[in-house]
Amino acid sequence: MTANLASVAYVGAAILFILSLGGLSHPETARRGNLYGVIGMTIAVLATVFGPRVTAAGLPYIVGALLVGGAVGLYAAKKVQMTQMPELVALMHSLVGLAACLVGFASYVDTSIAYQGAEKTIHEVEIYIGILIGAVTFSGSIIAFGKLSGKIGGKPLLLPARHWLNLAGLLAVIWFGVLFVQAHDVTAGMTPLIVMTVIALLFGIHMVMAIGGADMPVVVSMLNSYSGWAAAATGFMLSNDLLIVTGALVGSSGAILSYIMCRAMNRSFISVIAGGFGTGGGAAPAAAGGGAQPQGEVTAVSAVETAELLRGAKNVVIVPGYGMAVAQAQHTVYEITKLLRERGVNVRFAIHPVAGRMPGHMNVLLAEAKVPYDIVFEMDEINDDFPATDVTMVIGANDIVNPAAQDDPTSPIAGMPVLEVWRSKISLVMKRSMASGYAGVDNPLFFKENNRMLFGDAKKMLDEVLVALKS
Ligand code: TAP
Repeated sequence: MTANLASVAYVGAAILFILSLGGLSHPETARRGNLYGVIGMTIAVLATVFGPRVTAAGLPYIVGALLVGGAVGLYAAKKVQMTQMPELVALMHSLVGLAACLVGFASYVDTSIAYQGAEKTIHEVEIYIGILIGAVTFSGSIIAFGKLSGKIGGKPLLLPARHWLNLAGLLAVIWFGVLFVQAHDVTAGMTPLIVMTVIALLFGIHMVMAIGGADMPVVVSMLNSYSGWAAAATGFMLSNDLLIVTGALVGSSGAILSYIMCRAMNRSFISVIAGGFGTGGGAAPAAAGGGAQPQGEVTAVSAVETAELLRGAKNVVIVPGYGMAVAQAQHTVYEITKLLRERGVNVRFAIHPVAGRMPGHMNVLLAEAKVPYDIVFEMDEINDDFPATDVTMVIGANDIVNPAAQDDPTSPIAGMPVLEVWRSKISLVMKRSMASGYAGVDNPLFFKENNRMLFGDAKKMLDEVLVALKS
């Protein structure tokens, strides 16, 4: 493939990536967006592999690596459960970071192109920044993977003087950067490069270890953004325009998503980047027991009583959460929705921006069950409607409906906007036990007078409710 043809293919792929992002912004166009992305990536890979910069001798290695990588990806995509998706995404981000580091070191030791003067400095700055972002993304994503999969506890690790530690790390990175650029040869430059990589790896670990349970969504989207910038940095190192454009698209869209998430969680964007946010400036947060202990009585109901409550309702709101995903109850939820709507009940869904374990998690499940989009509402659109709601069914959700976020300033989730389900006439929570949710915080909602609990697996309970509704 000639250089010109490869450039045309790159422009085509870049346009497809932009169309893909546009499509992914709405559930109705998401499939099309995904398809654009797949076509764009296929074109990009083919144009790179058969492009002018790959020699015939290198081709078998690249094809071999593609086959191995493709097989691992295919296996992971088929095997991983929907609930494990965020872990997989975090792991993939770590690979982007690792690739940026490896490409950075390889470009530095590669002396086949003799850069001179300003060009040499620019190339070295690209390498330094590329490895810096790559190392932070790599180690941060590995810790995020550990936290999301439960292999590392959700409790934030707050080192004393952690902000000073971060500042000292930043100053050291700048200092070693100067030494690196001033080094006369590769051997002299290697030491500052390796020291900076170690500092960046430690910063990535520190940044994510300091994050409390409920704030993980923001960190995941931020690492997504970092992985984009790492890819863009790799593009600079390799002088690959498509990688720069694609990396910048992922980096900026991830940054916008992080900003939206921060707003949804009522957190400051800057403190996320510095690490350890949402931890109340050092107060012991998250983990079970943070905040005041809720007190009172819990009113448990049966599936038949739940059906009775629904039968008598005119307005019903359904709040899905992580437990609905675990139980795979979305199809039964829609069966019940259809039945109630046929009987003239106004049924709507309320989606919290961080419900589940990844952005859009609930929307994906509801779309899979074919729930019409026009009855699915964002938190801001529906939060004022709870007082006029007869029954709100909370299915496997916990943190996102926790009134402590508003009422208890000592709670680790204080300040996080939540769905105010307790303002409806009856709120009905379906879950298996009194256990806390991801943030490890007790939920006073369960003890409210107008709240009912339907204990059990969400799918099993909803099947019973459906049978009772039909009888
Ligand atoms: P959670 O607060 O995690 O609560 C889920 C509840 O579902 C649990 O309390 C659990 O209680 C129940 N459950 C689990 N399996 C169930 C089953 N088979 N049947 C019925 N119930 C079941 O979930 P949420 O309310 O959706 O809030 C999301 C949380 O995850 C937030 O803290 C958020 O910050 C965090 N998070 C979100 C994301 C994104 S991007 N969405 C990413 C990382 C973390 P039982 O054990 O008693 O059944």
